[in-house]
Amino acid sequence: MSESSKRPGEISASIMCADISNLVETLDILESESVEYLHMDVMDGHFVPNFALGMDHIKKIREISNVPMDFHLMITDPEEKIGWFNFGPGDCVIVHYESTRHIIKALEAIKATGAKPGIALNPGTPVFVLDEILDFIDIVAAMTVNPGFAGQQIVPGSIDKVARLKKYLIDRGHPDIEIEVDGNISFENARLLRERGADIFVAGTSSVFGDMDRHEAIRSLREAII
Ligand code: DX5
Ligand code: ZN
Repeated sequence: MSESSKRPGEISASIMCADISNLVETLDILESESVEYLHMDVMDGHFVPNFALGMDHIKKIREISNVPMDFHLMITDPEEKIGWFNFGPGDCVIVHYESTRHIIKALEAIKATGAKPGIALNPGTPVFVLDEILDFIDIVAAMTVNPGFAGQQIVPGSIDKVARLKKYLIDRGHPDIEIEVDGNISFENARLLRERGADIFVAGTSSVFGDMDRHEAIRSLREAII
């Protein structure tokens, strides 16, 4: 069993899926259940046809919660915009491989902030695009839906892609690069993805922000990703 797979799975709660009318209570629950990250989806209406959390929203949440943030930047040319945010140590900042011609510049700019740099791959993007950038990343986010919207169904094949990604990372001497999975992470999908090597699970409408009691849903997800 590789080092990374011995680590317990981690939960990254997708704040764009939270009910904004009781966000403070939700943040307290997430903190009380020791959720490892707040997943902060940032969208520009260009890389994806949607908008999500805005800069003021992010700043406000920073003031309310001490939980580290896992930023998912669905924006074009992110290397030009890293300075717009106050990323820092403890944060993860994930940019899409497909979003820029200058991916190493983006990853270096993130690293300079002290945050953990990560790369997201759309379901249709092959794993081998990582060949030249493994030394620049701490995380790979394997998208299990096409990015831009919550509440979608998992893309068939994206589950087995995680198994191929895990083997790819081990074969290239990077067993400690963490694999994040994002999109329709139900309890069942989480279990299947954990078996295939996923480490960080974005919890959205299919689990923590579904119809269940929040505490119960977080505990059920924990069980699925032990
Ligand atoms: C979608 C976002 C996800 C989304 C997950 O583009 O990246 O983080 O919020 O929502 P569910 O879990 O409902 O797919
Ligand atoms: Zn996301």
